[in-house]
Amino acid sequence: MCGIFGSVGDDRNIRHLVEGLQRLEYRGYDSAGIAWIEDGGLAIHKSIGRVGEMAANLPPARSACGISHTRWATHGGVTNENAHPHLDPNGRVAIVHNGIIDNADLLRSNLERLGATFESETDSEILAHLISRSLSRVDSPVEAVRSALKRVRGTWGLAVIFADHPEIIVCARNGSPLVVGLGKGETFVSSDPHALIPVTRDVVFLEDGDVATLTSSGLRKWRSDGEESDSVVETIEDEWELESKGDHPHFMHKEIHEQPRSLRLCISGRVLAKEGQARLGGLHLSPEQLQSISHVRLLGCGTAFHAAQIGASVIERLARVPASAHIASEFRHGQPVIDPNALYFAVSQSGETADTLSAVKEIQLKGGHVMGVVNVVGSSIARACGQGAYIHSGPEQAVASTKAFSNMVAALTLFGLQIGRSRDLSRSKGQEIAKAIVEIPSKVELALKDPGPIDDAVRLVAGTRPVLFLGRGQSAAVAREGALKLMEVAYVPCLAYPAAEMKHGPIALLEEGSTVVVVAPNDELKERTLSNIQECRARGASIILVHTTDDDIAEYADVALPVPKTHPILSGMLSVLPLQLLAYGAGLALGCDIDRPRNLAKSVTVE
Ligand code: M6R
Repeated sequence: MCGIFGSVGDDRNIRHLVEGLQRLEYRGYDSAGIAWIEDGGLAIHKSIGRVGEMAANLPPARSACGISHTRWATHGGVTNENAHPHLDPNGRVAIVHNGIIDNADLLRSNLERLGATFESETDSEILAHLISRSLSRVDSPVEAVRSALKRVRGTWGLAVIFADHPEIIVCARNGSPLVVGLGKGETFVSSDPHALIPVTRDVVFLEDGDVATLTSSGLRKWRSDGEESDSVVETIEDEWELESKGDHPHFMHKEIHEQPRSLRLCISGRVLAKEGQARLGGLHLSPEQLQSISHVRLLGCGTAFHAAQIGASVIERLARVPASAHIASEFRHGQPVIDPNALYFAVSQSGETADTLSAVKEIQLKGGHVMGVVNVVGSSIARACGQGAYIHSGPEQAVASTKAFSNMVAALTLFGLQIGRSRDLSRSKGQEIAKAIVEIPSKVELALKDPGPIDDAVRLVAGTRPVLFLGRGQSAAVAREGALKLMEVAYVPCLAYPAAEMKHGPIALLEEGSTVVVVAPNDELKERTLSNIQECRARGASIILVHTTDDDIAEYADVALPVPKTHPILSGMLSVLPLQLLAYGAGLALGCDIDRPRNLAKSVTVE
């Protein structure tokens, strides 16, 4: 949450900070602001609303040093005062902060006892006060920041500018990502390496505990113990230009329709059709190592968790090894037993989800081995894991995740095949699955070309509250994903349950006019799901049914949404498509902000 962008070096129009910020807007978008050094003092401009709204009234100015921020509110409501940057009481220090200060209340009341008054309700403003106070006691701005941070508990990605030191930005990282971009005569800081691509590809990732000083000629950085550390310069190699929407009305629409291509990118070069095998090179696991794994445990949040559930089911079925999915935000609080012979996967599109990253650290601390299944190259989770598989979705900009879900499922399915073939799975069975995987992108293409009567389904869900989503086996996870999408994009209250669980409670909600979405592809569970459909119909509910094309089960639906036939183990990558389109259509019909739903952010970097 929250995006930070700043630069020091060339004297130029401060609007370039707006451009940087716009590339980070997916991280948070309730308010935005910029601070820059001008005529020996600090100038500041901030307001609620999107970056574009803030920039509309930005005064013309040039500066060689500035920081900017796009906010997702944590402490304090969405107001102009709570927007970043924040100034110290003397107006000589400006800060932007991403993260949460856990001991903010205590620090605030201590400062108030010393006479401080605050302009905002934020925890972040406290940092400006602390740094300002430290400045009078220490020799340098970087010392002031380090000394202030010693009093703070919590997480931060922090950038600070000083009216009296116009040639530097001081940055610090602890739990919230920051990356430094090395330009020619100019140095940048950003929350996300991809926002730096238009200005440089040479970057230095800050690690937790680091404090750094940026000048026009580069950076110096220090570890938390004060020891200066070398900067390892990395080159951003992938082609993650932040593309435009093209002919699509929304990024979500574009990303749904990109799935055939992104799935091909994920699968290509990883399937060995003849051997009935798959190989995810980045895992670096030999067949012997794969044989000795006692348990596969997958962690993720939101959509990534749903993908992990499908992955667990596929892995267990193909490899006959226990596999389970866990909500990453809960994982470390349950005092988990970490088995050194188990293999852990952290599944994340952004690679920055704080809950997932914390789970990774907990597992590593207890001697467990975690691999990343991540989209964003060089992200915090990818780097913390060190090994894993990129899902290669390309940039996903709509807050509601679509193509990343499919690619997570595809990557985990490839792993299922890889571990399966090292254990129990026969060559002929492997060949059958490998062939079916290779065919998936074309089937997705087919499904998206002719998605069936989505508009009829949209009319049903847009008019009823709540909508119940049901499915069995891996279709239960697809149902959950469909419900999450509809809630996020169209604000329709939804419940999702394994179909058989319905009769243990949620069935009480059903009455004449209710809407139930059922995911029932043609697999071994279909007949049982049909009984649940009958139970819903008997209570007056209308059924939207996702089913395999040409299957008789369609007769039991009020709106039948067919998807192409595939191997049952791969059905999730097809059944999810009508549900993505349903959420998109409902969001549109209800006049919602499809790509930037209220209260959400693309990258959830607070716990
Ligand atoms: O970046 P991640 O995959 O780790 O994000 C996890 C969730 O925050 C994310 O999937 C969220 O649920 C999406 N908004 C779903 O569309």
